[in-house]
Amino acid sequence: MSKGRAIIKTEEEIELMRLSNQLVSKVLGELSNHIQPGISTLRLDQIAYEYIKDHHAEPAFLNYKPHSSKTAYPHTLCVSVNEYVVHGMPKKDVFLKEGDVVSVDCGVKLNGYYGDSAYSFTVGDVEPEIQKLLKVTFECLELGVQKAIHGNRVGDIGYEVQTHAEKHGYGVVRELVGHGVGTSLHEAPEVPNYGSRGKGMMLIEGLVIAIEPMINMGTKKLVLDNDGWSLRTADKLPSAHFEHTVVVRKGKAEKLTTFEFIKNGKTAVV
Ligand code: MF3
Ligand code: CO
Repeated sequence: MSKGRAIIKTEEEIELMRLSNQLVSKVLGELSNHIQPGISTLRLDQIAYEYIKDHHAEPAFLNYKPHSSKTAYPHTLCVSVNEYVVHGMPKKDVFLKEGDVVSVDCGVKLNGYYGDSAYSFTVGDVEPEIQKLLKVTFECLELGVQKAIHGNRVGDIGYEVQTHAEKHGYGVVRELVGHGVGTSLHEAPEVPNYGSRGKGMMLIEGLVIAIEPMINMGTKKLVLDNDGWSLRTADKLPSAHFEHTVVVRKGKAEKLTTFEFIKNGKTAVV
């Protein structure tokens, strides 16, 4: 994943990427209307598929085959409930219930460019510990985004995310990382959620990266489900995941994705 040279985008390319990332943000907004007890995770997947097709785009994850995987991913969304961290496969017999935390990750391809974003939703009222996990993970994302500025290094992002999560005793997932985004879903550089200040590739204006902290309430250790995709925490404690695609800029990163379409009341943090 994310091999090769980092590609700096032109402003014209960034304008196109703004459209794909705006669309993926709207998909998450549309899904927020449907996140409620009783809906199956496969139904959410169908809603996202139709929404993307209606907007003349392609689901980016559908049939995507990461180098690390033997099989192509068969769905539009990754829907990871409670102890599931990422790559949760939508299932017709998995129904959301009150108190769940559900991470929904979506990618689209529009005009040849990808958009990528993820949000962790709450289903009804959740335990205060889950609320706190969501708040801290959201803060990790914001802190990471703040470091996506020209002249910084990839390790500056990871350092911020890791330090904030570990300060609260949480586990930082190592197996999956953020990444460059462009005409491929996964481009260089890899953007880990851990790292050291001043280390790693230098960030240059026009680089577009997805920053996506995956933070576990307990151990950072993961277990792969027998469906070959869904990853859950080894201790079965809950996990949270937020993702923005951003442009590295001088002075301040520019977010291409937004959570503004996600309806209040269905969420822990906006
Ligand atoms: N959402 C993941 C990411 O942001 C990609 C999902 S990969 C797929 O990197 F294979 F599940 F599609
Ligand atoms: Co991503």
